[in-house]
Amino acid sequence: MTFTARPPAKLNLNLEVGPRAKDGFHPLRSIFLRIGLSDRLKVRQSTADAGRDVLTLSGLDGVPVEGNLVLHAVQLLRRRSGLPLPALAIELDKQIPVAAGLAGGSSDAAAMLELAAACWGVGLSDGERLALAARLGSDVPFFSSGATAALVEGRGERVAPLGGVIGRPGVLLVTPAIAVPTAAAFAAFDELGGPSAAGERLTDELAAALRAGLAADELPAWATRLREANDLWPAAVRLAPALDTLRAGLESATGRAWLLSGSGSSLFALYASPDEATQAGAALASGEAPGLVGARLIATDLEGPDPRWRQQA
Ligand code: C5P
Repeated sequence: MTFTARPPAKLNLNLEVGPRAKDGFHPLRSIFLRIGLSDRLKVRQSTADAGRDVLTLSGLDGVPVEGNLVLHAVQLLRRRSGLPLPALAIELDKQIPVAAGLAGGSSDAAAMLELAAACWGVGLSDGERLALAARLGSDVPFFSSGATAALVEGRGERVAPLGGVIGRPGVLLVTPAIAVPTAAAFAAFDELGGPSAAGERLTDELAAALRAGLAADELPAWATRLREANDLWPAAVRLAPALDTLRAGLESATGRAWLLSGSGSSLFALYASPDEATQAGAALASGEAPGLVGARLIATDLEGPDPRWRQQA
């Protein structure tokens, strides 16, 4: 029997970063929003007799098999069960740009925990699921929680679901061919002087608005307010100055605020509808905004599983 899932991507609407803790990690406070751009994951018990889990990748390039979080998820659950569970044959079709601040790898891992448990007939309580997810990585518990939007705190292990968005907003994503390694972004954050408490009130305000139910057409105005609410932006620009040029070009071409997701390198703008996001994407792709060469452009809603429109500039 084959089990399938469509693990979605996320955006960070804001990202407050605290001081580096003794474990080397920075505590975070961020509002995560799931978006309609998903990978494809397929799992079945392996018929090969080698007894090894096998991961086969397709879709986007640049995704490692070795050390892939999906394999970690399988191994973690097998160890946790204490049973000699059979090897799995896993197919992962990557659609979410990699190392782009969209947490595709974390989402795949969260989905893998579910599929492996189903494939083996292993029961997982909510508590066990979240504990395993937290061990796999900071962004994994959000996906395991199943929330559409959530306030995520600590190292990602504290996930408070928020009501979400009423209606169908649109998102336009631009993922440039620029790498911002997460560890380097946090190191640059420290070098630039570390935390400020500036974003705290805005996070609380946005969380309250989402809890109460935020209308799709209110999101673009929120994006303008959230433009400076990613504490990793100065660090990302220090590592990749081209991001600053790209953002300025996108803002002048579209007339709206562009935000960084996570430590980048994806930038996004919010629209009142997926149609508006698609039109803006098509206009950008046919224009001459600087820094767009080689970038992936994707317009989507929040549900998916597949985006409305995509193009490589
Ligand atoms: O979560 P991930 O393994 O991608 O993190 C890579 C590195 O980024 C960590 O080893 C740590 O140096 C840094 N990091 C951090 N605080 C976080 C997440 C990551 O300092 N909350």
